[in-house]
Amino acid sequence: MEFKILLTSAAFVALSALGASAQENATLAVEGETILTSATAPAFAENLDKVYSGWLFRKLETRALQMDDFDNPAFVFVDQGIDLFEKVDGTEGKACASCHEDVEDFAGLRPSMPRVEDGTLVTMENLVNDCRTERMGAEPWKYTGGQMTAVTALIGLQSRGMTVDVAVDGDAAPFFERGKELYYQRVGQLDMSCSNCHEDNYGTMIRADHLSQGQINGFPTYRLKNAKLNSAHARFKGCMKNIRATPFKVGGDEFKALELYLASRGNGLSVETPSVRN
Ligand code: HEC
Ligand code: HEC
Repeated sequence: MEFKILLTSAAFVALSALGASAQENATLAVEGETILTSATAPAFAENLDKVYSGWLFRKLETRALQMDDFDNPAFVFVDQGIDLFEKVDGTEGKACASCHEDVEDFAGLRPSMPRVEDGTLVTMENLVNDCRTERMGAEPWKYTGGQMTAVTALIGLQSRGMTVDVAVDGDAAPFFERGKELYYQRVGQLDMSCSNCHEDNYGTMIRADHLSQGQINGFPTYRLKNAKLNSAHARFKGCMKNIRATPFKVGGDEFKALELYLASRGNGLSVETPSVRN
């Protein structure tokens, strides 16, 4: 499999401010899909000029793992997702594949998630579990569990390279506002907000870690640290614990609103699922 990083000088200049390990542009080609790793920030992200994928902030070896589907450890789990997609479960005797014949039909879904349906904010995990409980007569999967992340990675992969474009107006506006409030709210013993690290200090080092903008365009993400796929809510939980705050509930209203807000801050980036991080 071949991969390449395409350098453009404008992006190189923009990124040089971020430190040595991020001095690369901008476009990444994986298995034929072109992934934009930076973009002009959406207008509502007032304090950012550009948005950058977390991929740019990782070490070269970590980045390389994501550039080749044979090396990317997440694909072991994507394969499990394929098996789960085809497995009959529940009282109706159906598999996902009984109704969704071709998983490729989900192309285009991930860039718009989460979204509002009938006044409720709905995540990819909600869509999957609704089909399990309402259409299969099966138990819901654990929100951040291995079965869920395997299948959300498989579904997300179908949109790899597509542009993130989450709606923030209309019905979504109140959830966007709530997510924004949570993003800037100081919490925990360290009295810090998400923005203190991911907006005010991205590009700097925190202990041995190179701080990114905390974008979620690559989720679920394989982490070398725990050798499995991690959902966005699991990552939010980890960051809240690190600042000694009591994390909100995974799958709960706060994290869903935060997910919408974070996803929208990445509008313009490409879907990178499944990404690799340390
Ligand atoms: C009995 C048929 C049936 C089964 C089984 C089923 N689904 Fe669905 N699913 C539907 C229907 C009908 C919809 C709503 C119409 C649509 O968007 O296709 C839907 C919608 C979805 C959506 C949202 C699609 C979109 O574009 O909005 C996702 C994601 C999804 N299903 C995933 C799954 C997964 C994963 C499984 C297995 C765990 C599964 N479904 C099992 C029938 C089913
Ligand atoms: C004390 C600093 C700090 C705070 C505060 C913080 N984080 Fe993080 N976060 C990190 C570090 C360090 C990493 C790992 C390196 C990176 O990707 O930035 C990280 C990673 C992430 C990632 C993964 C990015 C990727 O590309 O995979 C997300 C998403 C994230 N944080 C969201 C949040 C949210 C949401 C909050 C607020 C609830 C928050 N963080 C608060 C330090 C922080």
